[in-house]
Amino acid sequence: MSEEDHKLRQRIRYRHVEKIYMDLKELGYHDNDPLEVTDLMTLDQWHYFGTEPVDAVIKLLDIREGARVLDVGAGIGGPSRYLAHKTKCHVTAAELLPDNHRVGQDLTSRCCMTGSVKHVCGDIIKTELGNQEFDHVMSIQAIYYVEDKSRLFRQLYDSLKPGGTICFEEFCRLKDVESNEEKAALDFFLLCVNTLPTQQDYRRLLEEAGFQVTVHDISAAYAEYTYGRWSNWDEQRDKYVRLYGEDMVDGWLNFIVTAKKLCNDFGLVGGGRFVARKL
Ligand SMILES: C[S@@+](CC[C@H](N)C(=O)[O-])C[C@H]1O[C@@H](n2cnc3c(N)ncnc32)[C@H](O)[C@@H]1O
Repeated sequence: MSEEDHKLRQRIRYRHVEKIYMDLKELGYHDNDPLEVTDLMTLDQWHYFGTEPVDAVIKLLDIREGARVLDVGAGIGGPSRYLAHKTKCHVTAAELLPDNHRVGQDLTSRCCMTGSVKHVCGDIIKTELGNQEFDHVMSIQAIYYVEDKSRLFRQLYDSLKPGGTICFEEFCRLKDVESNEEKAALDFFLLCVNTLPTQQDYRRLLEEAGFQVTVHDISAAYAEYTYGRWSNWDEQRDKYVRLYGEDMVDGWLNFIVTAKKLCNDFGLVGGGRFVARKL
């Protein structure tokens, strides 16, 4: 798949980037109003369990005031801002899609956080990360989109200071694909990459890059989350249609049903939290 194709497909999935402005309006904010990061926190985390994964990263890596942290696949910057707010560290929020990057910059500036969160736009594989630039790397539900993970981990290794650490949370394949139905669901879910690594694959790729690795299996939590989101959907549907329109809501529903099937009915997809140290 060409790079342009890859970006285009991702744009399809993240085409609702302006949703955050609708949500802020609901909270009573007007265009360009200054924002409280504590209000944003409930709206700008593009992954499961709100800010909990970022708290896990802070704890697992012991991120402290003044540390330099790279956030890979930062979305609209939610985890980066929360991390900087919570620990007073300095975050570089790296994001592929210009629309997400632009919204991220706007929100960071309206939170008066430009001194602690810097946004950079581009494919992480091609982004100049520097040598021994960071104390830590964080990434939440973004690395699965990167085709050449082996190269990514080598680059992240180089960008870390000696003894530096990385923590990322990712979808993982739990078994081989066994039917056409499973394959179709996985293809729809992955969108722009060909394969989903297992937890063992991730461990091997990290070790080959030189890291010492610990893996935490969070598949049961992913199954519970995706099931809960699917089963509550009917209650929420009318409210969402009123707020965001039928088209947006139908797109989400497709995704929500597929994630529930993959993580529950098929038992094909789970989650992993990977902690690795540069030796
Ligand atoms: C599920 S979102 C998660 C965003 C953010 N980590 C969060 O949890 O709020 C995945 C993000 O990774 C970004 N991404 C995917 N491939 C990327 C790449 N090669 N380089 C940089 N960002 C990438 C996507 O554009 C998307 O914004």
